[in-house]
Amino acid sequence: MTAAGPPSPPTAVRPFTLVDLPGVYRVCLRTGDSGRDATALYRDPDLLAHIYAAPYPAADPGLTFVAHDEEGLLGYVVGTADTYAFEEWLAEHWWPPLRGRYPEALATDPGDGTLDWQRVAHIHQARPVDEPLYERFPAHLHIDILPRGQRTGLGRRLMTTLLTALRGRGVSGVHLGVGSGNPRAHAFYLAVGFTETSRDDWGAVMVMDLTQ
Ligand SMILES: CC(C)(COP(=O)(O)OP(=O)(O)OC[C@H]1O[C@@H](n2cnc3c(N)ncnc32)[C@H](O)[C@@H]1OP(=O)(O)O)[C@@H](O)C(=O)NCCC(=O)NCCS
Repeated sequence: MTAAGPPSPPTAVRPFTLVDLPGVYRVCLRTGDSGRDATALYRDPDLLAHIYAAPYPAADPGLTFVAHDEEGLLGYVVGTADTYAFEEWLAEHWWPPLRGRYPEALATDPGDGTLDWQRVAHIHQARPVDEPLYERFPAHLHIDILPRGQRTGLGRRLMTTLLTALRGRGVSGVHLGVGSGNPRAHAFYLAVGFTETSRDDWGAVMVMDLTQ
């Protein structure tokens, strides 16, 4: 009979390093269908993270934080302090090589239920837009945790770590978008202190004032 070992230590949250990048891509895909696994929706497993995860640590590695367990990367939060400046950075540095890698001809629905074409359209259509919302809430973020790490307090810890970093930079506020198909994430954002500022068919924009 083997004695039970010591309890495993709480999962560490730490700043992103480049070795975390493959794990970030995997977690992004496996949570990319309104919080559920999007693997079956994409022929190209990298497309989602090319847009919603990887550019953040490339533009500003100081605002991405990750959590690992013994199986690998468990979750991350990615953020930018200044959304408009980030969009300008994307236009200059990020979209051009991706537009070469994914020609616009791929932005056509093949009719088989896969969604690569929508992401390719995004890569080609994205332009910097200085929204009025950015004045008070210039930062934005994305947070994703694999199912085995959910509802353990890790989302709150990752979020608190990023919000502390944003406050440390004197950022006045942060916004995010949550799809209407993801009520669990909506409940999480309310629980950690976001409020809803607008709602549409696609989902809701939520904000948090960081000056208080
Ligand atoms: C949404 C997500 C980041 C939340 O992280 P988490 O680690 O599961 O949440 P936590 O355990 O830290 O919970 C923090 C608070 O949110 C609340 N919460 C979390 N998930 C919830 C749910 N499904 N329903 C209701 N409340 C929820 C908790 O009750 C908790 O409140 P409390 O501390 O006052 O008890 C995580 O579940 C996730 O990555 N999901 C899949 C990807 C995703 O949907 N990302 C968001 C895309 S917009």
